[in-house]
This record gives sequence, structure tokens and C-alpha cells, in this order.
Amino acid sequence: MNLKLENKVAIITGASRGIGKSIASKLLSYGCKVVLLSRKLEDLEKVKNDFKSENIKCFECDITNINQFEDVVHEVVNTWGRLDILINNAGITKDKLLLRMNESDWDSVMNVNLKGCYNTIKVACNFMIRKKYGKIINISSVIGQIGNSGQANYAASKSAIEGLTRTLAVEFGSRNINVNCVAPGYIETDMTKNLDEKIIQEMKKNIPLNKFGLTSDISETVCFLSSDLSSFITGQVINVDGGMTIK
Ligand code: NAI
Repeated sequence: MNLKLENKVAIITGASRGIGKSIASKLLSYGCKVVLLSRKLEDLEKVKNDFKSENIKCFECDITNINQFEDVVHEVVNTWGRLDILINNAGITKDKLLLRMNESDWDSVMNVNLKGCYNTIKVACNFMIRKKYGKIINISSVIGQIGNSGQANYAASKSAIEGLTRTLAVEFGSRNINVNCVAPGYIETDMTKNLDEKIIQEMKKNIPLNKFGLTSDISETVCFLSSDLSSFITGQVINVDGGMTIK
């Protein structure tokens, strides 16, 4: 499929590993220029070495700090002259039952997962509105829809991202900016690799396709939403979960 992403510029938060790294790799393969953000530059440099491409810029940037993100966007627009796509992928967990969850567990998850999206969109939308073109894709989670014991902070942040997505789709629609969400189910990452086989089998029973997803399942969906093939899709949450949420 030709997604016609050649020379488009995409910023991906949390691109040092897992789903973010996979999104960066897929966008690169479709000809996009990619800007990788994470909290540690050395981690991103390793990713850059793996990819061996000229079309990559790496920046150490904590998305909870809007000034750092603003500097990145200015640098990108000054050198590559455009910003077409923003992928809000960075996310963290601090799992505990609410009874044991303290204020800092709550605040840190909200700050990265939700306020981080506010920060990046608040800055990036200025350039997109001026160009009357943009694609914003936020990574939520099925946990934001179905809940999960021990993840009150995470689930609340991911539900909120879906509400934010729908609202901004309305606000930015007339500016030709599409805002969508991808909600992954269980995906094979470093985290799930270490789970006990019995637990994995139990989890798979709740997934109609009877398997965990791959990071590429998420990144292909993100690339589709980054392209003009999806230009009439906005304000949507696409669940990439093997059917888990229909049961
Ligand atoms: P991961 O933990 O492997 O990677 C997260 C990335 O975000 C890392 O690069 C990390 O450095 C970065 N990051 C964390 N805090 C940051 C901050 N303040 N500023 C900048 N970067 C920061 O995560 P994974 O598994 O690849 O997940 C990616 C996204 O997908 C997350 O939003 C997660 O909630 C979501 N998700 C993942 C699922 C899974 O099964 N792995 C399932 C559902 C949703």
C-alpha cells in the first residue's frame, strides 16, 4: 500500500523502545522523516544506529516540560521546514490498588500520560493550524475502556486521552487537522515477555484471536492514521486488541 508519507515530518514521543520504536521504524520505511523523543538521548542514539537512516533526529525531551518540547519543535521546523504528524506514544504505569496509591503515584502517571499530550498538542497545533494540515495520533489503551484492578491512575489517564481526542477533533476539524486514538490491547513487549506462561494462557482466553498483538500491529495502524488514506477519519478510537473489548 502506498501511504504517500514521503518527506512528511513526524514527531514520536517515547521512541526509545517498544511501540514507539516500532512506529518510528514503520514511518521511516514509508519515507517519513522522524523525530524521536525520550528522556535519555543515549537510548535514542542506539535506536538511530539500529535504523541507519539520514531521516532521523533525536532529542532528549521530557514531555512533562512544555518548554523542552517547544525547543524541539522550533529546531525541527527551522531545519526540516515542516511538522505534519504528532504521535503521542510516551506513557508510564505506577500500578497499585487505590488503597495503597499515594498522591505522587497518581500525579506522575497523569503528568506523563495526560498532561504530556496537552503539552505536545498545545505547541504542535500552532504550526499545524498555520499550515492547515496535521495528523495527531494519541496512544491510549483498552484499560481506559474496561478498567483494571491496580491501574486506577493509568486507566483514568487513558480514558481522558480518548475524551481529549474527541474534543480536539471537533476543535481542529475546520483546520484540516485529524485527531485520532489507537488503543492497544495486550502487545508482546519486554513487559509481557517475562510473564508466567500460565498467566499468558489465561489472558489469551479473553482474546478472540487467541494471541497477543505485535508492536507492528500498532505501528501499521498508526501509519494509516498518519496518511491521507484516512483523511475522513477523525475523533475515533481504533482498538487494536485482537477483539478483547468485544467480549
Ligand atoms: P515502554 O515503557 O516500552 O516505552 C515508553 C517510552 O516512553 C520509553 O521510550 C520512555 O522513555 C518514554 N517516556 C516515558 N516517560 C516519558 C517522558 N516523561 N517524556 C518522554 N518520554 C517518556 O512502553 P510501551 O509498552 O512501548 O507502550 C507505549 C505506549 O503504548 C504507552 O503509552 C502505553 O501506555 C501504551 N500501551 C502499551 C501496551 C502494551 O502492551 N505494551 C498496551 C496498551 C497501551
